[in-house]
Amino acid sequence: MPLVEWTDELAVGVPAIDEAHHEFVEILNSLPAASDDEFRKLFSRLAAHSREHFAEEEALMERSSFPVIEIHKAEHQRVLSELEHIQERMEKGEMELAREYVREQLSAWFVLHRNTMDYVTAAHIQRTLG
Ligand SMILES: [Fe+2]
Ligand SMILES: [Fe+2]
Repeated sequence: MPLVEWTDELAVGVPAIDEAHHEFVEILNSLPAASDDEFRKLFSRLAAHSREHFAEEEALMERSSFPVIEIHKAEHQRVLSELEHIQERMEKGEMELAREYVREQLSAWFVLHRNTMDYVTAAHIQRTLG
């Protein structure tokens, strides 16, 4: 069972966001079966990918004058700090903590964030930028 199953219903209708989300889901789903070494590399990739993806989403929010951009940006920042914190602890040997975080928190966070902030943001982008 993948942590998050990618289906068309997960798409929000803005290609740049959907491509990034699809990639996020792919990396996320490859984590549980990875060896510790692979897991560490994949986790770094996921963090780097998230930084880029959030920056891209934020640029789209700026271009479309999204009214609650600050709230969405703050949530991105919160998750990036969380990823950094988990990565630091993982590098000190807390593999199980990192694995549990991916399994129990990050997957649920992704779906929730997609269903709330990203969904609303994408609808706004489509309305204003077409
Ligand atoms: Fe997103
Ligand atoms: Fe977002």
